[in-house]
Amino acid sequence: MNTEYRKKIAAEKATEEVRNGMVVGLGTGSTVYYALLKLGAMVRNGLNIVGIPTSDGTEKIAAEQNIPLSTLAVHPTIELTIDGADEVDAHLNLIKGGGAALVREKIIANASKRILIVVDESKVSHVLGTSFALPVEIVRFGWEATQREVNKVCEKSDLRGGIEDPLITDNGNYILDCHFDGIPEPKKVELQLNNIPGVVENGIFVDRADKVIIGTPSGIKYME
Ligand code: 5RP
Repeated sequence: MNTEYRKKIAAEKATEEVRNGMVVGLGTGSTVYYALLKLGAMVRNGLNIVGIPTSDGTEKIAAEQNIPLSTLAVHPTIELTIDGADEVDAHLNLIKGGGAALVREKIIANASKRILIVVDESKVSHVLGTSFALPVEIVRFGWEATQREVNKVCEKSDLRGGIEDPLITDNGNYILDCHFDGIPEPKKVELQLNNIPGVVENGIFVDRADKVIIGTPSGIKYME
């Protein structure tokens, strides 16, 4: 069973919690992609839902699948969100933002009553920050000064895409990928980073996920 299959079974399992009439937060990434395909098939079979996408990319895929879309202005409360993660610890804390959608993902998470995280088993980690660099979205103005402050919190950081061709997020910002020798106190680091002028948001999600659905070689496992 390859990684894609593990992502697929986790994502499709999450769609089993989607009910008629729900407002559903639609995450971003290659794992959630399979949930979007499945939701599209369910909509074609008569499921009535409204999706709120976490990125322009997800909005496009969901539209192609004819999933009806809305906004937080019209639907301020989301019943269920299905999203991916880059690293997950045993307390269901997450690193997100590998797909550069962390700001909208955190806004959607904050508006969600229930959050399902879909991953393959390679994302499970003992301590956050040991297998994935933490994405931090920063505004472009004065970004070098912001990076200097961010580097006081982490070991070092890289401008995603590099100086010649930096990645621009859906919100028009840069991403710093921040390397840590582990993040044993994720809430503290989340707040420290967000307190730096120029930082828009970072990819630490603490106490947000209700259930992590993990695709493994032997099938689905759960953390909740
Ligand atoms: C995007 C995210 C994604 O959910 C995360 O990067 C996981 O993506 P994938 O399923 O492709 O590994 O946080 O900002």
